[in-house]
Amino acid sequence: MNEPRKQLYVKSFGCQMNVYDSRRMADTLAPLGYAETASAASADLIILNTCHIREKAAEKVYSELGRVRRLKEAAAAEGRRVVVAVAGCVAQAEGEEIIRRALSVDLVFGPQSYHRLPELLERAARDGKAVDTEFPIDDKFDRLAAPSAAATRARGVTSFVTVQEGCDKFCTFCVVPYTRGAEISRPVQKIVAEIERLAAAGVREVTLIGQNVNAYHGEGTDGRPWPLARLLRRVARVEGINRLRYTTSHPRDMDDELIMVHRDLPTLMPQLHLPVQSGSDRILAAMNRRHNRADYVNIVKRLREARPDLALTSDFIVGFPGETDGDFADTLSLVDEIGYAGAFSFKYSPRPGTPGAEMADQIDDAVKSDRLQRLQAAIDRYQAAFNRRCLHRTFEVLFERRGRHPDQLVGRSPYLQPVQVAAPAASIGEIAAVTVTEIGSNSLFGALASKSAQMSAPRPAFVGAGA
Ligand code: 5AD
Ligand code: SF4
Repeated sequence: MNEPRKQLYVKSFGCQMNVYDSRRMADTLAPLGYAETASAASADLIILNTCHIREKAAEKVYSELGRVRRLKEAAAAEGRRVVVAVAGCVAQAEGEEIIRRALSVDLVFGPQSYHRLPELLERAARDGKAVDTEFPIDDKFDRLAAPSAAATRARGVTSFVTVQEGCDKFCTFCVVPYTRGAEISRPVQKIVAEIERLAAAGVREVTLIGQNVNAYHGEGTDGRPWPLARLLRRVARVEGINRLRYTTSHPRDMDDELIMVHRDLPTLMPQLHLPVQSGSDRILAAMNRRHNRADYVNIVKRLREARPDLALTSDFIVGFPGETDGDFADTLSLVDEIGYAGAFSFKYSPRPGTPGAEMADQIDDAVKSDRLQRLQAAIDRYQAAFNRRCLHRTFEVLFERRGRHPDQLVGRSPYLQPVQVAAPAASIGEIAAVTVTEIGSNSLFGALASKSAQMSAPRPAFVGAGA
């Protein structure tokens, strides 16, 4: 193999899908002689893989582009050319506008064009600039290069695998159906082959990802569309994969078969991100969520019957157009009713081109800020309560990487909490029983448990659990 001659710096913003895509872009560029670097200053090619979900996300990109411009100018002064590319959803939404606003940008391409990166680079070298925000019909996953076993190993023992992309739900606040396009699912066989490769390179935990992952309906091994439940059962049989997760799910697609997988599959971790967005039926309808509060509560009840220790997390939006104090109170009461192990909450951000942005009754920013702060305080209380219930309990931790101190490793609990444990570096990739000894603000601390220690689950954050 040729020695890498060029340095690639990729920065991901936003969701896990972008993290996965960034890796696949690096894999596609490796045969062209690009080696990844963590230093933007030494890079020959800088890719910003952007997110458009909220205003702040796009603003961050433009401020990052300011820094990149200075790097590019400094390199030019030394006679070195740096190519700057903007990928992802901001690229898809803004297209050529980015090049007009940020002159240092050479290449703009959307999430459906990553496999065309080599030819886009050639085009930029020839014509100065290149823009590609088409939605092609060919399967980009087929044409993206697979990573080498060494590259996979270097990336650690957990991995994301994209199984579906895009969304047909059209929630009225959301840009995803416009930037990622219509829902497509990858065939089962290709997903299984990718996971077998990952397992052979040492990956122990796989998270199946998609914007609307439980709408998955890819072609199965029998030629028929398979739901996510069947895909999970198949992937669970891949040797070496000890843990499975999937994200992000829509309540509407949480069918009985999928709920039963939580009961039946021990490798499916007892943790689920199930965004609800609001606790008010009026706002859920305005958001075009296609479920109401009672539907959601009922799904959670059935999930907890199937897997009593399931840790639930969610996303919330405050200040959607027309949200009254009463609607917001409904959101707070839903947080109390469900008892989340954690959640993300956001101020509503009008996205150009979405129905929400055109609605009357947009909410004042001060009101949004006040609601956000109150909601986050409630969520934090429940998260702290969930973590406290883990104290002195013993569960399995998958060791992922070295900790801050020598002889310390960081792993993840089944509930996705980071856990810091004194353990030898050789244990990375292993799953060990750990007893939680202390609760920190961002992680748990634990000690390797004796072989005979009984595994125990935290008491579920059952309905009405007090914080
Ligand atoms: N404003 C605020 N939050 C949003 N999200 C998506 N679109 C918007 C928006 N326009 C949030 C939702 C979603 C998460 C990924 O981002 O809560 O679940
Ligand atoms: Fe966006 Fe999720 Fe709604 Fe799809 S289901 S439109 S990705 S919020």
